[in-house]
Formats: sequence, structure tokens, C-alpha cells
Amino acid sequence: MTDHDTSRAGALLTIDVGAICDNWRSLQAAVGAAQCAAVVKADAYGLGATRVAPALAAAGCRTFFVAHLDEALALKPALPAHAAVLVLHGPTPGTEAEFERRGIVPVLNSAAQIAGWRALARRLDRELPAFVQVDSGMARLGLSPVELQAVAADAPSLAGIRVAGVMSHLACAEDQANPANREQLQRFRAARRLLPAAPASFANSSAIFLGDDYHFDLVRPGAALYGIAPVAGASNPLRPVVRLQGKVMQTRDIEPGTPVGYGHSWRCGQPTRIATVSVGYADGWLRALSNRGAAWFNGTLLPLVGKVSMDTITLDASAVPAGALQPGALVDLINEQQDVDTVAAQAGTIGYEVLTSLGQRYARRYVGEPGTA
Ligand SMILES: Cc1ncc(COP(=O)(O)O)c(C=O)c1O
Repeated sequence: MTDHDTSRAGALLTIDVGAICDNWRSLQAAVGAAQCAAVVKADAYGLGATRVAPALAAAGCRTFFVAHLDEALALKPALPAHAAVLVLHGPTPGTEAEFERRGIVPVLNSAAQIAGWRALARRLDRELPAFVQVDSGMARLGLSPVELQAVAADAPSLAGIRVAGVMSHLACAEDQANPANREQLQRFRAARRLLPAAPASFANSSAIFLGDDYHFDLVRPGAALYGIAPVAGASNPLRPVVRLQGKVMQTRDIEPGTPVGYGHSWRCGQPTRIATVSVGYADGWLRALSNRGAAWFNGTLLPLVGKVSMDTITLDASAVPAGALQPGALVDLINEQQDVDTVAAQAGTIGYEVLTSLGQRYARRYVGEPGTA
């Protein structure tokens, strides 16, 4: 739902595209001569790739990463022709020709993906661009050390492939003191020496803050663009992007001992005003926030009491004067006082999961898009 009239929706999600662009500019400034790309997979971490990516392109971003071909195909028409769209998961067998036809650049993660891309280049009798990913210590995607040695020992294995980039991904970058970061850096440097000379890409959001050594030629932030704190335990240098406001449906005053919600997991110890808000786990308000999360109303904290239901949460609104929370009033679930990382900590997860879980039922309002006042 994109109409920002909340009368038909239970909540309003405001996405500050101008803040996303400012965050991209800050990251670009932080990496100096390197190029700052944007990771817009998973619908730009739930915020709307076809709204976010064109704004970033207008701000100067030239390279966009998604995970799947489908995501790339949806994104490509929204971007200027000069923008590069790369698919992190590379081609699944049989999709190579569609990548080429649609001008989408694959990240090749295995000897099999290299073989598929090489075969297409041979069939078309011309060079095709691709990134090659190496696994520098995460055991997830990319050429394993054994595969890398085999590719290096067999130069024709890359015949017809123009290696437009060599990349790898860090496992522990948000933890700056973790020795795994340096170990991966050393392995990535060694891996580059085994592959054709090409621009290198290593850093996600957090790794940008590990220092120049990690920047290479192209950095790939996602989370930091969307306002997630990049360094564990440090203050967040980026602008907040998301505001989520849930709508009050009704309030009731209950007597001491009254149980609230499924499983009667919470009972009030004193007379309590309960406000029921129309956001639930089907909207990505995680059930782990049961009896833990909170909302804010005009600077007052309203603890979430009882279980999160599919479509509703219940708040202890006793601190708000009677009558202040009329049906239709909006309470803040994500705002500057309670940012995405705070909500994630309450739910025992990470900001990435909070953002990418945000549901499809919200009225969405985009602010700060280029060309708008
Ligand atoms: C390969 C790769 N590069 C870059 C990113 C962006 O990471 P972040 O959102 O931490 O900046 C991701 C995200 O998971 C990724 O998988």
C-alpha cells in the first residue's frame, strides 16, 4: 500500500529518501576516491527499491547490488541506462542469456557459475562482464580456496569473461576489534593476486568504518544507507530514515489483576489504561517484542504489555491522560527516540531483520525524494 492516507491502513510508515541520499553522500565522502555503490536487495531492505534506487542514482550512485535476477529485472527500468545492476547470487543455470539480454552483471560465486558465463560468452563470441566473488573466510558464497587455486591454474577457465570486479564479504565487520577482519583482508589481498587485475570490492557498511585498508575501489553499503548503526557499541553517525506510527483502535481502563492478551502473559498490578494499536506480527512487529517493546506518544513511553498478536499490540497507556489517546491517534513505534537498532535489541535481533520484516499493510509515505519540496 503506497497511499499515505492512513484511514484505510493500521499504521503509517514514513521513509525519508532524502536521509538515505544524505547517508549515501556521507559514506561516499568517507571512502574518498573509492566508489560508493548501494545494496538495494530485499526491496532496499524493505523500504522500496524502485523509490530508493532512482533517488540514489540522482544523488550520484552508479552501481546497485541486488540478490536475485528477479530483483534486478524489477529495478533496471527504474534506473538510468548508465547505472550498473549486479546480482550477488549470480545466474542460476539457464538464466545466463537473460542476464546478458537485460544488461545485468552477475557476481560469479562458483566454478559452475564461471563455466555457465564462459559458455555464453563462447556462444555469443564476445566478452561478457562479471564480478568474481571469493570466499575470504565466511564459508557462504564465492570461490572456495580450492576452486580459486583451480581457476588460477587454468587461465582458459575465465576465457571470454571480462572480470569487472573481484569481491568478497566480511563476516564480523561490525565488531571492529575482531581479528577475523584482518585475516579476511589478508586472504582477500592474496586472492586478488591469483585473478586477473580488476577493481576490488570488499566493504559493506560496517567495513567502511574499519579504515582505508578495507575500501579498495568499490564499497557496498546497505544497512548504513537505511540508518542502521554500522559499528557495534558506537554512536550512529548516519541519519535516521524510518518512522513507523501505529494507529490506536481503542482504549480501556482495567482493574488490578486483569489479564491482557493471548495466554494471559501479563496482568496489571494496579488500575491501568490499555491502548490497543493496529500493528502486529503480520506487519513485522516481531512477536519477540511481547512484554518487551514500547511505543511513544508525545514523548511519553508506553510499554508494550501482553503478547504481540497478528494484527494488534496492547500498550500500557496509563501515563497518558484519559482522553488523550482517541481512536485514530498515532503512536510512534520507530522514531528518533526508539530507533531501528533499539527495537532490534528489544526483540533480540538485528536492525536488518526489523527493517526487512516491515509488512506490506502499512500506508507508506516517501519524503525527501528528488524534485519534491
Ligand atoms: C555480499 C554483500 N555485500 C554487501 C552487503 C551489504 O551489507 P550491509 O547491509 O551490512 O552494508 C551485503 C548484505 O548482506 C552482502 O550480502
